[in-house]
Amino acid sequence: MKILVVYYSRTGTTKKVAEYMANRMSAHIEEIIDKKNRAGPIRYITAGKDASLKKITKIQPLKRNPQDYDIIILGNPVWAWTITPALRIYIKENKDILKNKSISFFCTMGGSGSKRSFAVMQKLIGKKPRATLTLLTKEVWNNQFEDKAREFLRKI
Ligand SMILES: Cc1cc2nc3c(=O)[nH]c(=O)nc-3n(C[C@H](O)[C@H](O)[C@H](O)COP(=O)(O)O)c2cc1C
Repeated sequence: MKILVVYYSRTGTTKKVAEYMANRMSAHIEEIIDKKNRAGPIRYITAGKDASLKKITKIQPLKRNPQDYDIIILGNPVWAWTITPALRIYIKENKDILKNKSISFFCTMGGSGSKRSFAVMQKLIGKKPRATLTLLTKEVWNNQFEDKAREFLRKI
């Protein structure tokens, strides 16, 4: 089974989990890179607004074709209790492919919004995930996420 881990990460938290998962499963990895500069505290406000207004964004060309994989894991930080514009455009552009794959979702977040963001992903794709995983930012940086990640990977 070929596995692809696709993720967006602004400050490296989701990236850390995605890389752990890809290593553990010998999977390929695709980082979605937002062309809009999202760095710094001022842009945090715009980023939150863009997410809550369901905006999409321009992303850099992708390296992997999801069609080539059996299992796809989508990872994303929660923004304004929903998904990021970068993941939203990825899903929009690939939803017909994703719908025909085994999909699972994970997110990182400060404190709340994962259920809602998973529901948004499920609705956009039109398919239920096999497994979901929510991790707090602090769990990731304290290296307290690996047991949960391994359990999630057993279910995908
Ligand atoms: C614009 C913006 C909005 C956010 N909104 C939420 C939120 O609604 N709920 C939450 O728990 N965390 C929220 N966060 C915190 C991030 O989800 C969290 O820090 C995440 O782990 C960051 O992942 P990253 O380092 O991969 O970018 C938000 C962060 C940003 C930048």
